Amino acid sequence: MAQWGPVARWGRRALSALGPWGPGSITGRRRSISLSVGASGIFGSRGNSEKKFSLQDVAELIRTRACQRVVVMVGAGISTPSGIPDFRSPGSGLYSNLQQYNIPYPEAIFELEFFSHNPKPFFTLAKELYPGNYRPNIIHYFFRLLHDKGLLLRLYTQNIDGLERVSGIPVSKLVEAHGTFASATCTVCRRSFPEEDFWADVMMDRVPCCPVCVGIMKPDIVFFGEPLPERFLLHVLDFPMADLLLILGTSLKVEPFASLSEAVGGSVPRLFINRDLVGSFAWRPRSRDVVQLGDVVHSVQRLVELLGWTEELQDLIQRETGKLDGRDK
Ligand code: APR
Ligand code: ZN
Repeated sequence: MAQWGPVARWGRRALSALGPWGPGSITGRRRSISLSVGASGIFGSRGNSEKKFSLQDVAELIRTRACQRVVVMVGAGISTPSGIPDFRSPGSGLYSNLQQYNIPYPEAIFELEFFSHNPKPFFTLAKELYPGNYRPNIIHYFFRLLHDKGLLLRLYTQNIDGLERVSGIPVSKLVEAHGTFASATCTVCRRSFPEEDFWADVMMDRVPCCPVCVGIMKPDIVFFGEPLPERFLLHVLDFPMADLLLILGTSLKVEPFASLSEAVGGSVPRLFINRDLVGSFAWRPRSRDVVQLGDVVHSVQRLVELLGWTEELQDLIQRETGKLDGRDK
């Protein structure tokens, strides 16, 4: 795994100039700087002779099952249609709306040193993000349909909302790279606890304390500088095997997750769906990249239409929504 993600040379100097706020430990989550340029950058470096790869081509590869080992990478942008803010969208992103938490800078809410000093802001945020408050959207169910059709090799998510699980994708098909609220670990004795042991406290605005020692039950969300879950190492097998890579709703700013976008073979088609152009899709596009800029729901709906899966997906969503209604009664 490259130590540096898709960061331009100048980005490395800039990052090292960030000092203590720069990249965290080698194995832990690190911030990197991505570039975003206008759409013209998408095809600028392509040889004019080669036919530009299109969304129709990607749909054809999936529909005809020419591609059967699809790897998916997602970020917070796929959960905004479910009502969960992403992190960096100007104005609406979480990092623009943390004033109430009285923290020194936005990412501090996911930093161990700050957490050990004051865990309240994180738990207040956790209460807001409580998985039971939100539901999967069409994007999560599109991935579920990919799985049901035996085409999903693995879904790598940076999201901590758990909506991939709620949509019915088996945990064996998921890599929750930045952790999950489904369990917690004591900050002192390192005991592990299931979610039912701590959510009641969180919902009552209490910091959940370990029943055995003086530690805090910290949900298994990966903080900056912490090692990623061991399951993240599955990428060593999955990405070389992938015959199609879908990347949706992410700014590709956080390493080592962002670098996975470069880990598939050079001839493997990559479909990037996002509001803005970021990462290597901006400054080092590949000949079989397809970039769909704009609203993630519209782009996924268009892809589903091209696949001829619209009705099937609607039926799936209806069935699953009925189940969730039953659960929430
Ligand atoms: N349609 C299309 N794109 C969207 C939409 C939408 N409805 N909503 C958001 N986006 C895009 C944003 O424009 C942005 O490029 O999704 C991307 C989300 O980027 P971030 O907010 O940076 O989220 P993410 O990439 O998941 O962040 C990675 O940073 O701080 C950490 O733990 C955090 O896991 C997270 C990591
Ligand atoms: Zn303990």
